[in-house]
Amino acid sequence: MSPTKSASDVADLGLAEAGDARIVWADAQMPVLRSIRERFARERPFEGLRVGVCLHVTTETANLARTLIAGGAEVALCAANPLDTQDDVAAALVERHGAVVHAIHGEDMATYYRHIEAVLDTRPQLTMDDGADLVSTLHASRPDALADVLGGTEETTSGVVRLRALEAAGQLGFPVVAVNDARTKRLFDNRYGTGQSALDGILRATNMLLAGRVVAVFGYGWCGQGIALRAKGAGAHVVVCEVDPVRALEAKLEGYEVLPSVAAAAKGDVLITATGNRDVVRREHYEAMRDDVVLCNAGHFDVECDLAALRELSWERRQVRPHVEQHVLADGRRINLLAEGRVVNLAAAEGNPAAVMDMSFANQALAAEHLVKTAGTLAPQVHGVPAELDEEVARLTLAALGVEIDVLTDGQKAYLTTWEQGT
Ligand code: ADE
Repeated sequence: MSPTKSASDVADLGLAEAGDARIVWADAQMPVLRSIRERFARERPFEGLRVGVCLHVTTETANLARTLIAGGAEVALCAANPLDTQDDVAAALVERHGAVVHAIHGEDMATYYRHIEAVLDTRPQLTMDDGADLVSTLHASRPDALADVLGGTEETTSGVVRLRALEAAGQLGFPVVAVNDARTKRLFDNRYGTGQSALDGILRATNMLLAGRVVAVFGYGWCGQGIALRAKGAGAHVVVCEVDPVRALEAKLEGYEVLPSVAAAAKGDVLITATGNRDVVRREHYEAMRDDVVLCNAGHFDVECDLAALRELSWERRQVRPHVEQHVLADGRRINLLAEGRVVNLAAAEGNPAAVMDMSFANQALAAEHLVKTAGTLAPQVHGVPAELDEEVARLTLAALGVEIDVLTDGQKAYLTTWEQGT
């Protein structure tokens, strides 16, 4: 048995061929990451470097792992959520691409954390996280190993929030690049990616018609904006709930109805959380809901709906379709919870499409290279993706799309740096 096989824990290595076919399909829609992979294969920026990766185990992540491996890295991968793993992809990564993988779809929480520990056992020198479970486990359980790590990257808003809290507590042990905050990540992956894939998850789970329905979106950040946009495009009446007054105003002027969350819960046929915060849907929301509503979460963690309160209110729970658990309340009202309240686009569908993950993962690959090039010089803080890398990803994506743009003339450049020219 190859060393990566014996070191891995995946559901079924026999799925490798099917997984590889899907990885190749996604790769065809990831031209920017592919061009970086070809360069990495020539330049080998990660020669012999151990990289610990905690990302959703999808075809897109597989192409990022291939890119790191092409650059000379030894990759150990675990899942960023117990329901995200595509078992065929995990098998293909082990069988065909030389990664060590610890990830099984539907694993319980103990196994999820055992898999994170298994990745940490490989003593990563670079970390790549989505939600900061890998980095927070490392800080909590292995402070001695922090010195081995030259840096890390973080994929998502919720993870960046946690890392900033770690930094504010003065405990962040190495520099982390917030890939999430790159413009070519959050403007596209969060908005158009999650906007589409969250609805994809809802539709695959329920096969419902959105036209004519009331869709309530809790949270009008980049993900909420994308979900609202796509729900409106599908013919739904969209209600937005938001605590930030500027964002709430933006939603209102965009044409959405803006309501407090309990009123939205009472009005919606489909309720979608995307706030990054906990207990957004609570007892008072469940008590207000209509019969037969669909409830789901598109935020990273499963804390947005208070599931303990829902269980307390439920007289009966039944699995009515894959990914749909129906909760029957005392008065007979039914609340259809999708994907156990976990991130619906990954648990009930395949995550964001490859074409947007191309930009996100190009940023990941370039941020990892940046951390290696600047090793020992960056402070142990959360850093942004350097603007030139972000713009490079945009330029390469435009080129792949066949889109040409103008450049400023010398006169225009000079005009932007002068204060003398006015009315
Ligand atoms: N996050 C959202 N969509 C994803 C995908 N397709 N792969 C990896 N991480 C994701």
